[in-house]
Amino acid sequence: PCLFKMILFLIATSLTFITESRNFLQLPDIDCSKTPTFLVLLVTSSHGQNKARMAIRQTWGKHRLVAGNRIVTYFLLGTTMNQNDQTGIIAESQKYRDIIQKDFIDTYYNLTLKTMMGIEWVHKFCHQSRFVMKTDSDMFVNIFYLTELLLRKNRSTGFFTGFLKMNELPIRKINSKWYVSKDEYPGSTYPPFCSGTGYVFSTDVASQIYNISESVPFIKLEDVFIGLCLAKLKINLEELHSEQTFFSDRVEFSLCLFKKIVTCHYVQPYELLIYWNALERSMDEKCPDV
Ligand SMILES: *[C@@H]1O[C@H](CO)[C@@H](O)[C@H](O)[C@H]1NC(C)=O
Ligand SMILES: *[C@@H]1O[C@H](CO)[C@@H](O)[C@H](O)[C@H]1NC(C)=O
Ligand SMILES: *[C@@H]1O[C@H](CO)[C@@H](O)[C@H](O)[C@H]1NC(C)=O
Repeated sequence: PCLFKMILFLIATSLTFITESRNFLQLPDIDCSKTPTFLVLLVTSSHGQNKARMAIRQTWGKHRLVAGNRIVTYFLLGTTMNQNDQTGIIAESQKYRDIIQKDFIDTYYNLTLKTMMGIEWVHKFCHQSRFVMKTDSDMFVNIFYLTELLLRKNRSTGFFTGFLKMNELPIRKINSKWYVSKDEYPGSTYPPFCSGTGYVFSTDVASQIYNISESVPFIKLEDVFIGLCLAKLKINLEELHSEQTFFSDRVEFSLCLFKKIVTCHYVQPYELLIYWNALERSMDEKCPDV
């Protein structure tokens, strides 16, 4: 009877896995139930950005322990009509085991689907982790400082932080990249949200967003969509630190500055390698207090 129960259990768990893997074309190689994970970094990426993915894998996205806390990085991708790109991604996924992919066309205006795929993956495969960060492939992320601040903050549930946008208005200029029609979003203001360049939340929030997302009107701006979910869930945005640490713009590199920021934007792969090497080489050097 014991063996029988065990077989039933095995069948049940593999069935769960099969149901949950449904629709995922590529999955990363991790068993979060067996590997305690502190922070999962989800990076939106597209097929042509191999250089950026390689640079991230060698820098802030390298899987490592920071003060004993495991940090892992996965790339979010959709599909493309280009067969070469598509086979390239399958090979890359088999080599690095760090790609999450579903079957939707990979375009800028499908970013909400891409982000929600990441949230779904966390909900189904890695709800045991403590924090999740969603960021982009042209970002610098100081995971050391982020870990230090998250540990200092010591929050476990209902936490959401990043570059806060508390009073944004929909852009109605038709030729803007962020144009949103009144049909798509009738409201005159957006709810508070965090810039999509980098936001961090406690993992329970992923399941809550996943759960409520079906009943939230779709908008192609992924960060606004997450803001709409948070408003419905009554989860407030919080600052991670009294100083600004998330930058949604470019920040000129200086070692002492980059030690005390979490994100900055518009970083080329070659710059990322240079900045990161400088940062790692100077880990023990002190900077003047600001
Ligand atoms: C988003 O993906 C879906 C599913 O593949 C596709 O039908 C749709 O055209 C895409 N939307 C855009 C704006 O590219
Ligand atoms: C973190 O918070 C928990 C309660 O949520 C508390 O038990 C623990 O002592 C706190 N740790 C630190 C380092 O403040
Ligand atoms: C999902 O939503 C249902 C109904 O709104 C609620 O009862 C349930 O607790 C929610 N689950 C999570 C994980 O938030």
